[in-house]
Amino acid sequence: MRYYSRTTGCGLINESNLGSTVTLAGWVQRRRDHGGLTFIDLRDRSGMVQLVFSSEINKQAHEKAHELRSEFVLNITGTVIKRADGTINNELATGAFEIQVTSLDILNRAKPLPFNLDDTQIDEELRLKYRYLDLRKPQMQKNLSVRNALIFAMREFLHHEGFYDIETPILTKDTPEGARGFLVPSRIKAGSFYALSQSPQLYKQLLMAAGFERYYQIARCFRDEDLRADRQPEFTQLDLEMSFIGEREVQSVIEQLIAYTLKKVFSIELQLPLKRMTYDEAFNTYGSDKPDTRYELKINDITADFADTQLSFLRSILQASGKIGCLYLKQARFSRSELDNWVAKAQQLGAKGMLWIKAGENRQLESPVAKFLPTDFIDRLEKTCSGFDQGDVVFIIAGSYEESWELLGRLRCLVAKELGMIPEGLLDFLWITDFPMFEFNAETKSWVAKHHPFTAPQAGWEEKNQRDIKARAYDIVLNGVELGGGSIRIHDPERQAKVFEMLGMTPEQAENKFGFLLEAQQLGFPPHGGLAIGIDRFVMLLANQPSIREVIAFPKTARGHDPMMDAPTPVEDKRLREYGLKLLPKVTQSAE
Ligand code: AMO
Repeated sequence: MRYYSRTTGCGLINESNLGSTVTLAGWVQRRRDHGGLTFIDLRDRSGMVQLVFSSEINKQAHEKAHELRSEFVLNITGTVIKRADGTINNELATGAFEIQVTSLDILNRAKPLPFNLDDTQIDEELRLKYRYLDLRKPQMQKNLSVRNALIFAMREFLHHEGFYDIETPILTKDTPEGARGFLVPSRIKAGSFYALSQSPQLYKQLLMAAGFERYYQIARCFRDEDLRADRQPEFTQLDLEMSFIGEREVQSVIEQLIAYTLKKVFSIELQLPLKRMTYDEAFNTYGSDKPDTRYELKINDITADFADTQLSFLRSILQASGKIGCLYLKQARFSRSELDNWVAKAQQLGAKGMLWIKAGENRQLESPVAKFLPTDFIDRLEKTCSGFDQGDVVFIIAGSYEESWELLGRLRCLVAKELGMIPEGLLDFLWITDFPMFEFNAETKSWVAKHHPFTAPQAGWEEKNQRDIKARAYDIVLNGVELGGGSIRIHDPERQAKVFEMLGMTPEQAENKFGFLLEAQQLGFPPHGGLAIGIDRFVMLLANQPSIREVIAFPKTARGHDPMMDAPTPVEDKRLREYGLKLLPKVTQSAE
């Protein structure tokens, strides 16, 4: 077998190659036989070009061309000619040309593939089992090309701005940082465990203690969480930290970085500064800390309209200081069965129920509870939901402020999606600021850090109730997706110890888990802060993809499984013994 060095890429053939001899390599997209001619579409990363074989051009190559099947890998040499008028393919960048093949080598043969690469309805397990085939699809090639371009532009910008790219360990200590971490047993120190890094958070803070001032990393992070369309157990962050700065400096660097990358990769001009909103305003208006502000559909507080209600379930909610909120859908003109459907959808989102009120013909009040509402109720709604009129409807959810607003927030997204309210092609960035410092976890009945335990509280925190303390934390949101989050950190040990205490840690537990940090804070620690952007999410949104799995070369399924390598798998007892481990009887599975 002969090997050629390629002279150009399939998709790069152009006018300048006319009449010259080229050598190409790639995959057979398809073969067509027409009389004495055989046509092959040959594909490589750069694109596709048509090859033509005939006995007149080269008998041997033409005969061999009959063996070719889809996805065979070839190396060819031939002459570039112009295609005859009427056979030009305008869909293809190289569609005005073809290659008359004088020599053909088959480098690899392919069995019929387990699925057709043009099929858009392939089961995801199968796609991931043969991911290397799935990745041959033009859309997947494009997704990874966008990812590559974006990361390169980020590196370029940060290098230019004086940031050092520094790697930090993946095998680290199991510390309570928010998410659940993966454990890795140590063989050398049997009985002890590393944790896989959830993020380089503590290391990057210690790099500030080390005096590097500006750090970044394209960092792999690992979290053992329930997976969703925008969550993977391992994912990538653009992680960044700076010394001697405040919130605005970090946000400004991030804005400029995003503007630079959008311009470089997509020629998009981003208007700076980006929009800002406090956490309280975002939650009150949109029921979310990552509101999609590409469309309005705000939540209206209609608690006062029900002050004299006869509806006992609403009365008891009001007595418990609950709230009643609604989404106001102008001219929705829903039928009764559509409205019933919306009630079911709200329930699927977790609501116990959803009440609707409609202004029917002649502003006639229509609702499952119409007979319990005062006759002037439409007039009341007209005031709170400015302009409420015939054909309009409100979707109402009542309960505690947090719970009902959160549900309305989720319902808002679903309504917007199903009613086609989301404008296409917008990149709507938004900073959310002034997050609460702590959050009460009703399940574990304990306070947890809303961001992470190293985030600095805002001034005046000593005098406030734990519930009311605000953090120097900020998130960046893109089209209703949390793109990144960061904060100014605590840099003195007393404040850090106090926050650990407020999170329910004893001084011994704090020392045991975070002694190294508390000590570093006593050895010359500069004020510092930073942020991390989820690269997978950023690429997903920019490549207009429905899930981050579409922009990661080898992701796990939604159940955390890798169908290609078949991971995770049970291991032999012998392997476990090396680590001093034994499985409990009920989780014992057989290893091959
Ligand atoms: P945070 O936990 O908010 O902050 O993460 C930052 C960003 O990372 C992305 N992200 C994920 N992407 C895919 N799959 C996941 N499981 C996943 N989890 C998070 C999101 C998120 O906004 N150390 C802090 C940052 C800092 O304070 O500087 C941190 O990790 O886009």
